[in-house]
Amino acid sequence: MTAATATTAETFRPALHFAARNTWLNDPNGLIFHSGVYHLYYQNNPLGNVWGNMSWGHATSTDLLTWTEHPVAIACDENEDIFSGSIVFDRENTSGFGTGSVAPLVAIYTSAFKPGSGHDGVQAQSLAYSLDGGYSWTKHTDNPVLSRGSAEFRDPKVIRYDGDAGSYWVMVAVEATDFQVVLYKSQDLRNWELLSTFGPANATGGVWECPDLFPLPVDGDPENLMWVLTINLNPGGPNNGSAGQYFVGDFDGITFTSATTVTEGQQDPDRLGDYQWLDWGRDYYAAVSFSDAPHNRRLMIAWMNNWEYANHIPTTPWRSPMSLAREISLRSSDGNLCLVQQPAGDWSALAGQESYCLSETTIHEGVLVLAGAAGTVQRIDVSFTPGSAEVFGLILRGDGAKGTRVGILPGEGKLFVDRRESGQTDFHGSFPSIDTAPVHPTDMAYSLTIFVDRCSVEVFAQGGQVTMTELIFPTGTSTDLSVYAVGGTATIHSLQVTQFA
Ligand code: FRU
Repeated sequence: MTAATATTAETFRPALHFAARNTWLNDPNGLIFHSGVYHLYYQNNPLGNVWGNMSWGHATSTDLLTWTEHPVAIACDENEDIFSGSIVFDRENTSGFGTGSVAPLVAIYTSAFKPGSGHDGVQAQSLAYSLDGGYSWTKHTDNPVLSRGSAEFRDPKVIRYDGDAGSYWVMVAVEATDFQVVLYKSQDLRNWELLSTFGPANATGGVWECPDLFPLPVDGDPENLMWVLTINLNPGGPNNGSAGQYFVGDFDGITFTSATTVTEGQQDPDRLGDYQWLDWGRDYYAAVSFSDAPHNRRLMIAWMNNWEYANHIPTTPWRSPMSLAREISLRSSDGNLCLVQQPAGDWSALAGQESYCLSETTIHEGVLVLAGAAGTVQRIDVSFTPGSAEVFGLILRGDGAKGTRVGILPGEGKLFVDRRESGQTDFHGSFPSIDTAPVHPTDMAYSLTIFVDRCSVEVFAQGGQVTMTELIFPTGTSTDLSVYAVGGTATIHSLQVTQFA
């Protein structure tokens, strides 16, 4: 069914992203590749399409692009909501949850305890295990396994550490309102010992949530590993609301030492643009990486929404999609250590569809609709060289000159997404926006790879050095793709459009 013939209710259902059939979702949880399948669990309200009744929903994929939804994996009950967390494959059955030859998958999640539970108002870490590859789960009878008596201790990400300090499980979690990451170690996933804390540092404009910690080779050199600590925060992002920041440094098995801290303690509001962001757009939150991804790839998925307006976006019967999966790598340039991100799915099954090309074309003042390039689900690869124009770029999911503008302000060295005329915007006052990110041309050229879906735009600029992810809600008939310039000219070096629906 094309978007033009889709029912109004399903106009926004994504083609290349996961969204639940008819319920609410937020954070990705328990991402793991196991027995040839990518498992995506997620914060889910099984009973509605706004936040509540938090449980872990479940979907699987083999290509990271098409997903199958399964029954709820771990459900809330009268004592607890099941908040975010992670899953590990406990190969050696250190936890003892395995039986015979079956090693367990172990979920480490936050129990958000309800009044009357005996832990009223406390957030503590609990376990559940699966002996059938992640499809059915049993809660541990002795939960929680780690409590600090805190109401803001959540979002455990557990990794396996094998290094100079030994071989054990490491948990990173947050004391959210203290802007602190807390690190624990365990031999058996049941007993945990505090290792160290990190923070506050850099962005602290909102609570810290959903941390992750992983090693990456610098510039692909396996002899030169550094560690990346990612921390989502809400609000306090570079363009308001929810966003994810990261630090690069060293982890010795006990302490994470950042090499990229700009400010210690509480944030300096003037330095927001100096911090390192996983994404500069409004809709990339709670990003977390897969355990055990093949070939040591570091693959991340984020919730494509923003707590500022999350419960109000105009989709029905479902609400909130996930982002595309991204492969994360670490690059050093001019003494800086930066993450570079690429779309990670297996596109081969989808490729080879109708494609539109343009090269060496001058764009003049005004809007030029590209006949033959219209679509609702597209990959656009474009490279521009600035001329005299103050602003130039593309108009996506458009209706003539109205649409979502993705462009460059060459004088300011900025990429922007302007969604003020992107379609439905009036469901929340803070949704219509122009959002910017710093971007530097390479050999004078600005190159963008953009994934457009029925309710989203994901921009990978300069080979993935800067990304911007935003929701949009255009009508199903807003399909034009245009180029435009303001105040002069610019040149399209090359433009290619691949259609996916
Ligand atoms: C992040 C978050 C987490 C929490 C979950 C509850 O979006 O607030 O900190 O575990 O959502 O749904």
